[in-house]
Amino acid sequence: MKKNTKLKVSIVMGSQSDYKTMQLAVKILKKIGVLFETKIISAHRTPKRMYEYASKAEKNNIGVIIAGAGGSAHLPGMISALSSLPVLGVPIESKKLKGLDSLLSIVQMPKGIPVGSLAIGEDGAINAGLLAASIIANNNPVVKKNLKNFRASQAKSVKKNPK
Ligand code: RP5
Repeated sequence: MKKNTKLKVSIVMGSQSDYKTMQLAVKILKKIGVLFETKIISAHRTPKRMYEYASKAEKNNIGVIIAGAGGSAHLPGMISALSSLPVLGVPIESKKLKGLDSLLSIVQMPKGIPVGSLAIGEDGAINAGLLAASIIANNNPVVKKNLKNFRASQAKSVKKNPK
């Protein structure tokens, strides 16, 4: 496979209020040394911004998109409809339905336009960062090495016996 070490992860979210969760994806990408950008794009409040962003994403050296959204959470699906890049959806934990609304909306994409859905909230944001790093690692040997080191040190941190 042709290597492309310039590919970045684009982290988008529907609102500033999502950043509390989505910053965990940022943190993991920094730790693994993956290029990234962050943006606020709302499918319903800024539909033109979403269209511009998604239709130019591939040209802008984006290799994976992580989209966090809460409530009716249509942002990941709408971005996937406009781009053939891999889109990972993070269901944000909503106040009223604890993120079940976000999860069902993201995970239930009808066939033809896929979104890879992660867990609700913080675990989902962290795993979205790790999964995006794995996808980028296919074309980037440095990221692959860093990801392997991350896994190894995570394994090492698990004690063999409880105290
Ligand atoms: C969604 O509505 C966002 O993704 C956010 O999770 C939720 C609430 O947004 P705010 O009212 O906090 O801006 O579009």
